[in-house]
Amino acid sequence: MSIVMVSLPDAAYGVNIRAGLVDGAGPVLRSLTDATRVAVVHDAALTGHYVGPLTDTLRTAGFDVVAVGMASQETEKTIASVQRIYDALLDHRWDRRSPIVALGGGIVGDVAGFAAATILRGVPLVQMPTTLLAMVDASVGGKTGVNHRVGKNLIGAFHQPIAVLADVRTLRTLPDREFRAGLAECIKHDIIRDADGFARLEQHIHRALTRNEDYLAQLVEHNVAIKARVVAADPFEQGERAHLNFGHTFGHGIERATDYAMLHGECVALGMVAATQLAVSLGMLPAVQARRIVSLIERAGLPVRGIPASAAAVVDAMQSDKKSDGKRLRFVLPTRIGAVTVRDDVQPDAIMNAVSTIL
Ligand SMILES: NC(=O)c1ccc[n+]([C@@H]2O[C@H](COP(=O)([O-])OP(=O)(O)OC[C@H]3O[C@@H](n4cnc5c(N)ncnc54)[C@H](O)[C@@H]3O)[C@@H](O)[C@H]2O)c1
Ligand SMILES: [Zn+2]
Repeated sequence: MSIVMVSLPDAAYGVNIRAGLVDGAGPVLRSLTDATRVAVVHDAALTGHYVGPLTDTLRTAGFDVVAVGMASQETEKTIASVQRIYDALLDHRWDRRSPIVALGGGIVGDVAGFAAATILRGVPLVQMPTTLLAMVDASVGGKTGVNHRVGKNLIGAFHQPIAVLADVRTLRTLPDREFRAGLAECIKHDIIRDADGFARLEQHIHRALTRNEDYLAQLVEHNVAIKARVVAADPFEQGERAHLNFGHTFGHGIERATDYAMLHGECVALGMVAATQLAVSLGMLPAVQARRIVSLIERAGLPVRGIPASAAAVVDAMQSDKKSDGKRLRFVLPTRIGAVTVRDDVQPDAIMNAVSTIL
């Protein structure tokens, strides 16, 4: 098993990465807590897969288990779903020592995490991510929350887990499209921080796509290490954590302009291509490096063009949450593979041209 440590001013935890960790989670959790009860908040779609083995190992390790299933759709990422977790736990007279384990993708992690942050003013949280996106991104860093009808992730809290248990074997059953969407965030991590990692991914992308278990463990470890480093340097998102938004200014615009018809990772892939083209047009990035970026995104099976919306609609959607406070759009732009810089002085026609390249 490999363990990546996340070290923050007021919390430190290990991200444990291993194939088969779901089956062995009982002893791991036993070593982390002397609680007698644990809640497993899980994606209802995983009931036939991992929920049984997880509750079995937890019971064998001496825990009473309360299981709470939820649907993993953005429309279910709501206060109402959090309320159902409160009800299930408080009906069992929950106490502050007893942890919540979140088993699922980023939706379950965010909802169960927010419940853990707020019930009884906070109970321990263990993240057990089952999507690539949740393993390399959502489960690390302590952001939890739910959507509001006005926008996504508008209600939430920072609540760091006491541990993350990533079982890469669970990725076997993940649909292809979801898997590739997670790869978009992996490509992002290397572009913002690690040229060697990028070169390795170029070389081994087929091993990722065929879900070679040993390779997936390395890939998750590498990406968690990058995210952990960035988060440790800026736990409350006041500075360099913004680099993680590479591809996301355009990506969020694409998500909104297309009414969330594509997956987040697909929009981020398109957004990274647009940001890369923008960097080239501003003379910040050599064209040969841009070609490598676009080519890797394409080889990962992610879209590099083809948006069912106009450039004007995308730019409009990018600006929609900025207009009210008069703030300018901020772009994270690569200066080479492995390094980025933040720019908020990009001219409107340059933005429009960049979007035009991905239509
Ligand atoms: N907290 C953070 O820092 C952070 C960061 C990035 C994203 N997010 C949030 O994460 C959410 C997206 O997460 P996601 O992409 O993991 O999506 P998700 O949780 O919706 O899971 C995607 C799909 O995969 C299925 N699934 C999950 N694991 C599976 C498995 N092992 N086998 C088969 N099917 C499986 C789910 O049922 C679902 O249909 C968004 O709400 C986003 O806002 C949060
Ligand atoms: Zn993202």
